[in-house]
Amino acid sequence: MSVSSEVIIVTGASAGIGKAIIQGLAGCGIRLIMACRNPEKSAAVKAALEKSYPGTDIEVLSLDLASFASIRQFASIMALKKYSINTLINNAGVLPAKFSLTEDGFETALGVNYLGLFLLNELLLPLMRPGSLIINTISCSYRIGRLHQEMFRSKPEARFMRIFNYARSKRAILVYSLELAERLAGRGIRVLAVDPGIVSTKMIEMKRWFDPLTDVLFRPLIKKPAQGADTAVFLSLEAQMPASEYAKLSGLCFKNRKAIRLSAKIRNKKNQKELWDWTTKAIQGH
Ligand SMILES: NC(=O)c1ccc[n+]([C@@H]2O[C@H](COP(=O)([O-])OP(=O)(O)OC[C@H]3O[C@@H](n4cnc5c(N)ncnc54)[C@H](OP(=O)(O)O)[C@@H]3O)[C@@H](O)[C@H]2O)c1
Repeated sequence: MSVSSEVIIVTGASAGIGKAIIQGLAGCGIRLIMACRNPEKSAAVKAALEKSYPGTDIEVLSLDLASFASIRQFASIMALKKYSINTLINNAGVLPAKFSLTEDGFETALGVNYLGLFLLNELLLPLMRPGSLIINTISCSYRIGRLHQEMFRSKPEARFMRIFNYARSKRAILVYSLELAERLAGRGIRVLAVDPGIVSTKMIEMKRWFDPLTDVLFRPLIKKPAQGADTAVFLSLEAQMPASEYAKLSGLCFKNRKAIRLSAKIRNKKNQKELWDWTTKAIQGH
């Protein structure tokens, strides 16, 4: 292990943007934790990285964000190992094609993308210190997401609309990130949201007849995974430089390395507090 027990955690580092984030951080001098649900797939990514970047310090730990038990186990292993979290990059996400529930009975997009991330952050806070950075991944779809308390029920809605379910999980992450940034300001822990843009990964596969056409006509025009990873990598590396202007920022959303403007509706204190209360209530007892 490195001299310091500091780590950078990347969730969903086995594929797509997360894999590119780990690649972008390889050799940064801090131990990298790949927090992934598929150990074999992740071990292959780790082995390839160690070959390309000899001396890189990487560890794979199991984390399934669709299971609160797995999240709690991951957090307790981190505590047992006495790791101090330099940066937590919450990258893992899903865009389910059909209605399904997580182990704890929440709609999967909301459960994995938002509730899993929320619980993980809560449980890892004791391992953070002033200067630690949390990066939460959103998407531009947050604009069409609608938040309401009923979304935490395990019953399917009248009509399952994959993009709207995904969008609300991303809107929830954004609203929550602003609230978390305020709550952690006194402890010097920073929170930023990042929108990677439209990126050519498995996630944008629609599992429809037109996928092959999309591959030919659309994929070449959008970002490659390394481009999608760029802002998260940039902010993580800037966080290592205390003199950097970026190393002080919190409560902002970044895209293409720039803070983007958020509407008054998103930056609404009452909505932020309401979502926080709904969420803690939904998680309680699980
Ligand atoms: N691609 C885009 O255009 C785009 C745009 C905006 C935002 N984003 C966001 O960027 C992030 C990365 O997406 P991507 O495009 O790289 O997608 P991807 O290629 O499908 O990768 C998703 C990653 O999340 C992991 N994951 C999924 N469910 C998980 C669970 N229950 N527990 C732990 N890990 C889980 C996957 O693990 P496995 O390898 O085991 O499947 C994989 O490593 C997501 O948050 C996504 O919403 C993507």
